[in-house]
Amino acid sequence: MTHDHDDRLWDGLSKTYEMIEVENRKLSLAPEHLPNKGDRILDVGCGTGSHLFLLGKISRDVVGVDISPSMCRLAARHAKTAVADARGLPFQDGTFDYIWSRVVLSHINPWEEAFLDSLRVLKPGGTMVIIVSNFWSFMTPLRRLMVKSGLYSLGSCRHFSTRDFRNLPGILIKAAYAVPKRATSDSPLFLAGARVLYALDRFLGALVDRWGGDLCLVMKKTPPGGSVPTCGNRGASS
Ligand SMILES: C[S@@+](CC[C@H](N)C(=O)[O-])C[C@H]1O[C@@H](n2cnc3c(N)ncnc32)[C@H](O)[C@@H]1O
Repeated sequence: MTHDHDDRLWDGLSKTYEMIEVENRKLSLAPEHLPNKGDRILDVGCGTGSHLFLLGKISRDVVGVDISPSMCRLAARHAKTAVADARGLPFQDGTFDYIWSRVVLSHINPWEEAFLDSLRVLKPGGTMVIIVSNFWSFMTPLRRLMVKSGLYSLGSCRHFSTRDFRNLPGILIKAAYAVPKRATSDSPLFLAGARVLYALDRFLGALVDRWGGDLCLVMKKTPPGGSVPTCGNRGASS
């Protein structure tokens, strides 16, 4: 595995990550989309492991992978972890019942490679929850401006809509809804404004469902020859 520029950024961010991930203390999911007790769970791009901790309260069989060795070391406080690239996961096909990946695909290029490898290690009928930066959020132009001006330094950050996932093979989208943004960046200027921005995000997200900062997609892996993917209902964020 090679470490490119973006990956070293994550190593550098790991020590302060939990300080700035101030609101990262719950799973933003309707209860029917949570894993079942005893499920084999994988967190792809687990960061410092705050979701490993939360998922571990539901099932004890939880594993996290992250490309950053420093992130992995911190995450290992909560569960088994492995340093791995999401584009080449070190697991056999159909290993997991439930895959969780929050704000990771937004930072991987090409993101489809990582998506398809997660799908590969998911059991047919298994659930995959993908949370990505939402194209329809008011923060999208703002963030693009910050990336351009160098204020936001987490490398590339892609914004998604449900349209991006609609034609991918092997999945059925069960639910797609926007949730308020939770992650922040390592830029002091961004951090200072984060609380205001996120309050605005929550307000706008409450006003129009699709405007929330993050897009949460809940998908089922269709069995071989299963039904064609369709876009499911919108649900409220919890
Ligand atoms: C914004 S952080 C999200 C961390 C965690 N999922 C959360 O919600 O707090 C993105 C994470 O993705 C990891 N990452 C970036 N590229 C990756 C790749 N190609 N394979 C695996 N992990 C990757 C980074 O190291 C970082 O921990």
